[in-house]
Amino acid sequence: MDTSRYWRLDRHPRGNTGFEDALSLHEETLPPLGAGEVRLRVAWLSMDAGTRMWMSPRTDGYQPPLPLGAKMVGLCLGEVTESEDARFPVGAMVRGFGQWAEYATVDPAAAGLEVVDQSVPDMREHFGALGMNAWTAYVGVREVAAVKPGEWLAVSAAAGATGSLACQVGRNLGAKVIGIAGGAEKCAWLRETIGVDMAIDYRNEDVEARLAAIEGGVDAFFDNVGGPILDAVLPNMAHYGRIAICGMVAGYDSDGPMPGPARFDQILMRRLRVEGFFIPDFLERGAEFMPRLRSWLDEGKLTMAFDETRGIENVLVAYERMLTGRNLGKAIVRL
Ligand SMILES: NC(=O)c1ccc[n+]([C@@H]2O[C@H](COP(=O)([O-])OP(=O)(O)OC[C@H]3O[C@@H](n4cnc5c(N)ncnc54)[C@H](OP(=O)(O)O)[C@@H]3O)[C@@H](O)[C@H]2O)c1
Repeated sequence: MDTSRYWRLDRHPRGNTGFEDALSLHEETLPPLGAGEVRLRVAWLSMDAGTRMWMSPRTDGYQPPLPLGAKMVGLCLGEVTESEDARFPVGAMVRGFGQWAEYATVDPAAAGLEVVDQSVPDMREHFGALGMNAWTAYVGVREVAAVKPGEWLAVSAAAGATGSLACQVGRNLGAKVIGIAGGAEKCAWLRETIGVDMAIDYRNEDVEARLAAIEGGVDAFFDNVGGPILDAVLPNMAHYGRIAICGMVAGYDSDGPMPGPARFDQILMRRLRVEGFFIPDFLERGAEFMPRLRSWLDEGKLTMAFDETRGIENVLVAYERMLTGRNLGKAIVRL
């Protein structure tokens, strides 16, 4: 095949719906590879909440904004079809930052391209228990939130990809876990499948009041959301607690900065440590995380639900599902 369909960013989107007004699907004839480049036939695309900020004009984010007119960028998993780099031979299964396209063309270093282990029974786990969200959960819970056995760990957006893995990492490390998510169905799944000790439905319950029942307070908070959820957790933190700022999905659709927490005072009053972290800073440590994640996967201690949509033409449907909370677990598109 020498043509490929891809999504192009034409305008900055408004909100988390109606992405078809901002992105359009095109087809191109694939150009010859440049020196050192690799091309893969994308089997699955990862839908990641953080990429929403790349679509905005913000220049103060952790990534520069994607220029209008560019192909939309995202994590891809697929088979190498052409290669100018011997480390990524034709036929290898690879994962890395490519494009929302049928065929992604990448510079391996810029893409963080990796050959993935094909002995894993379900290849999708390279976006699940063995993927970037898992590395994020592992580093965030274990190192940034520094969770110890017996402590209370709270996780927001707990029924999503990163959050459900953070709950399980916390549980596997011996913490008591509180998952905060939208809706009774997600909360039931968190209790019954993910094994949290408490689930809070932030859409229908008073998060601050429910957390107030935790004796001694919340020792560690893995926050994916920011905004009102962070404000509900702050006054319920234990003294000397730790907050790992993983994401601020409540604010990615605004083109400006997210307002600071209204309960900022609690950082001093409770002597909290608050630390942001970003997984590309830890990419070179992947080999160190993988043996433990793989053994947890094999032992059934790290599971992922996949919210799978089919077809490149439906990428925007999947993306909107994820940002509006209709996904359970990891949102992916199978091409
Ligand atoms: N720091 C890093 O390196 C890093 C790496 C990966 C991901 N992340 C962060 O992790 C977070 C989750 O990302 P993901 O890709 O794994 O997506 P995800 O959690 O699978 O999907 C996004 C979830 O966010 C929740 N959500 C959306 N808007 C919300 C709001 N206003 N208030 C509360 N919850 C809201 C929705 O669940 P509900 O139904 O519960 O609302 C939705 O399911 C993001 O903040 C992302 O930036 C950070």
